[in-house]
Amino acid sequence: MCAVHDTVMVVDFGGQYTHLIGRRIRELGVYSEIVASDSLLDAIKSTLCVKGIVFSGGPSSTFEPDSPQVDKNVYSLGLPILGICYGHQLIASQLGGVVERGDFREYGRTTLEVVESGDLLKGVRRRTVVWMSHGDQVISLPEGFVALAKTKSSRYAAFSDSRRKIYGVQFHPEVAHTEEGKKILKNFLFRICGCRVEWKASSFLSQALEHVRGVYRGGKVICAVSGGLDSTVTAILVKKIVGDNLVCVFVDNGLLRKGEAESVMDSLKSSGVNPLYVDASHVFLNRLRGVVDPEAKRKVIGETFIEAFNDVAGEWGPFRYLAQGTLYPDVIESAKAGGPASTIKTHHNVGGLPDKLPYELIEPLKYFYKDEVREIASALKLPDSIVKRHPFPGPGLSARIVGEVTEEKLKICREASAIVEEELSRSRYYDRVWQAFAYVGDDKAVAVLGDVRKYGYIVTVKVVSSEDGMTADWVKLPSRILERISVRITNEVRNVSSVNYNISSKPPATIEPQ
Ligand code: XMP
Repeated sequence: MCAVHDTVMVVDFGGQYTHLIGRRIRELGVYSEIVASDSLLDAIKSTLCVKGIVFSGGPSSTFEPDSPQVDKNVYSLGLPILGICYGHQLIASQLGGVVERGDFREYGRTTLEVVESGDLLKGVRRRTVVWMSHGDQVISLPEGFVALAKTKSSRYAAFSDSRRKIYGVQFHPEVAHTEEGKKILKNFLFRICGCRVEWKASSFLSQALEHVRGVYRGGKVICAVSGGLDSTVTAILVKKIVGDNLVCVFVDNGLLRKGEAESVMDSLKSSGVNPLYVDASHVFLNRLRGVVDPEAKRKVIGETFIEAFNDVAGEWGPFRYLAQGTLYPDVIESAKAGGPASTIKTHHNVGGLPDKLPYELIEPLKYFYKDEVREIASALKLPDSIVKRHPFPGPGLSARIVGEVTEEKLKICREASAIVEEELSRSRYYDRVWQAFAYVGDDKAVAVLGDVRKYGYIVTVKVVSSEDGMTADWVKLPSRILERISVRITNEVRNVSSVNYNISSKPPATIEPQ
């Protein structure tokens, strides 16, 4: 992206923490890019200021026949390299060391003993807690390498060849449980690679605007907005560059949260974006009648959305560009799936637009992580109601209605979710959790209201914490908050007899029930 920035390439070997490495490096002020192992050399050639390379972890064993490798020429480019977990084992095996399946698998917190700090472990305590997650281990170092640290079961938990600036750590410095992980990454970035702190929140806004300026060649731009952070920020950025050539569309699918359509329209208008409001709720709800299967519901919603979008595009076009709020992890996921890096997973799109639409793309956020987009939103002075808004799925409340979407279940889900959100805001939990909502299915239970027996719906409340939506944990809310939520839902929402609290984490459960 940025020819002028010092850049660290993170080679993706399929590890669950690859993006976390990328984000940690950026948090330390250095721009990072994730690259596939087989395109590393090309990526280095086409990027002006690569200052270092990090090899990520991954699920493979270096001695498996198809395990991912890198072109060995990378070791003679003179660029500093840090291998993490699988990356650490790969360096050892490619340069003549020996990797074996360990007698003990090391998972979780482990004490690391530093034997020789060198540049990489400079300032790290002699005994420090690190996070391990590996089965294989390095049992013999390549020539020219020395051990920097060990653990009870790994003789070479960290090593280096300081002459060639090649380093490896068996543990994960990027995870928060590695107490001095940040220090180790800092040592690599600044002491070893000599990077400058250039990737700063204060420059994100100008970077994103620069990107739009760079791709826009005149003509009209269409952008679907949902009121969520990514599409709102995208619309505002594009508006700043293309002015009245931007047409924004807000499709009300009838599956929005309580008061959402009004508040989205108001906040977009006050941010200078004046979207066309398309009320297609009756079409969506009619087509969803009788549809029970979750994927079938998604399909109906996706197709109906495209129809509504195409109607507007036909009426207000022709359009040359489609502006989308694609984020960096989505670009990488699509590239991995074999598509070109400019396509995105429909799952993450506003309403699920396919990439086949006949437009050129403008994606001002495609080099940014979510937390960086929040920084851009703050720089744009967007209200907290947008910056701190919880993620909401494209298929809307349909994802929270198990079975057929009926008017009655929709109303219950909407009212009960509003109560959950209100109670979380009131107790200042809203900003501390990832998502908080209520869902409803067809299950009913008997309740006694006064002297009358009623057979009403069972509502389930779900509140989860997460960093990125990929994994999530249920939040241990204080019982007084749960109690208030429960009492309010049964008292205020018609036809609800009982309230449950969901205590499943992801995995195995997904965040949305549908
Ligand atoms: P799951 O339910 O897969 O959700 O654990 C992970 C995150 O993604 C959101 N989500 C969606 N977002 N379209 C979207 O734009 C969808 O179809 C969709 N399904 C789930 C979900 O709210 C959570 O934050």
